Amino acid sequence: MHEILVKFQKHRIIPVVAIHEAKDAEPLADALIDGGLPCAEITFRTDAAEEAIRIMAQRSNIQVGAGTVLKVDQVKAAVDAGATFMVSPGFNPKVVEYCVENKILITPGISNPTDIEMALEYNLEVLKFFPAEAFGGLNTLKMMSAPYGMVQFIPTGGINTGNLQEYLKFSKVLAIGGSWMVKSDLISEKNFIEISRLTREAVTIASQV
Ligand code: 3PG
Repeated sequence: MHEILVKFQKHRIIPVVAIHEAKDAEPLADALIDGGLPCAEITFRTDAAEEAIRIMAQRSNIQVGAGTVLKVDQVKAAVDAGATFMVSPGFNPKVVEYCVENKILITPGISNPTDIEMALEYNLEVLKFFPAEAFGGLNTLKMMSAPYGMVQFIPTGGINTGNLQEYLKFSKVLAIGGSWMVKSDLISEKNFIEISRLTREAVTIASQV
C-alpha cells in the first residue's frame, strides 16, 4: 500500500479543510499537530487553497494534500504547491488518469458500484465514499463493498464524533474524512485552541475502536 495510505490507516481521520486566508495555514497546522492529527486535506473550495497547501507543505511534520480536485490543472497546481495526495468528490476519469500516469496518489469519490468498477480499471485500492451519510451511510457501504473484497474506503460527508466509531469498526474502512474539527468559521475566528481540542477529542474517540 502507498506509504501515505499507511499513514491514513494509522491516523484514521483526515481533516477536510476549507481555508479562506492562507496566513491561517501555519497556526492551523500547529493546531492539528497539537491535537494529534498531522495531516490535512485542503480543499479547492476557496481561493486561498493553493497558497495554504504551499505553506503547510514547507513543514516536514504534517502530510498535506488537496481536496475537491475537479480538474487536471488543479492536480498540477496542488503538486506544484507541494501536495502529496489528491482527493476528489466524484470519479473524473481525466483527473484519475493523469494522477495514475504521473504516480500521484488519488482517492477519488465513489457513491455506487459503477464508480467502484471504474476505479478498479485504474487499480486504485482506496476510494472516498462520498457523501457517505446522504448515500445511506455504513449500511450502504457494507452492501455496496461486498463484491469488491480488495477495495478499502474513506467515508466522508456527515461523519462526526457521534458516528465515526461505527465506520471505523468496519474492516473495509481505512479512515474517515470530516470537517467538523476544522470548520471554516473556527479557522476564520482564529479559534485554534478549539480546533486542537476538537481534533484531540476525535483522535481519542477513534483510538477507542
Ligand atoms: C468533503 O469535501 O469531503 C466534505 O465537505 C466533508 O464532509 P463534512 O463537511 O460533512 O465533514
